[in-house]
Amino acid sequence: MIVFEEVSKSFDSLEVLSGLSFHIATGQMVGMVGPSGSGKTTILKLVTGILTPDKGSVRVAEGVVGYVFQEPRLLPWRTAVDNVAAPLRARGRIKAEAREIAAHWLRRVELGGFEHYHPAELSGGMAQRVSIARAFAVEPRILLMDEPFSNVDAALKGSLMQILTSIIRERKPTVLYVTHDQAEAIRLADRVVELVPGNGLRELDVRDRA
Ligand SMILES: Nc1ncnc2c1ncn2[C@@H]1O[C@H](COP(=O)(O)OP(=O)(O)OP(=O)(O)O)[C@@H](O)[C@H]1O
Ligand SMILES: [Mg+2]
Repeated sequence: MIVFEEVSKSFDSLEVLSGLSFHIATGQMVGMVGPSGSGKTTILKLVTGILTPDKGSVRVAEGVVGYVFQEPRLLPWRTAVDNVAAPLRARGRIKAEAREIAAHWLRRVELGGFEHYHPAELSGGMAQRVSIARAFAVEPRILLMDEPFSNVDAALKGSLMQILTSIIRERKPTVLYVTHDQAEAIRLADRVVELVPGNGLRELDVRDRA
């Protein structure tokens, strides 16, 4: 569950969010669209507590959060497998176990064989997949995804989508999924909201989807 009540957020004199309220039920998948600069990433960062609201409140149900950032945000000095293992280690897994789980998830995003590469040795799309593996590996109750597949080709995107769909079916996390592709959001999500600059969130009609 994610609840925003009358949330306002400014950066210096720029008010990005003004009195924003919305509610995402536990286990729901919500797609979020909206123009560049409208505040989508800001909303995800408020959910995790990376940012705090100037006014209003953000409440999030207890549980592990997986976050696929808009850019991969890997630790450059760590290998792919150790980047994915890092949040598992932070949550108390012993090293060998964390690495085993990490290697499993790297294989699932089709990066088997690249475990020991450093981020600088990976392509943009490969780095993005490492960050997806890192978010999935923690078995999140809340999954935040910020245009997670923007950097991968159509075929690979299809298989990553399948993994996402199976995770959603198996574990039913609460998902907030940011995309520029409204049709994709409508196809995937239970609900789709559009962030309208200066005007908060508008619920889009998803009844027409296939
Ligand atoms: N840390 C920050 N300091 C100053 N301004 C910021 C900061 N983070 C975001 N902003 C500003 O807030 C506005 C919203 O940014 P945000 O990243 O949330 O947009 P977005 O909807 O995710 O856009 P995009 O689709 O391009 O990713 C932008 O005008 C941006 O310049
Ligand atoms: Mg963004």
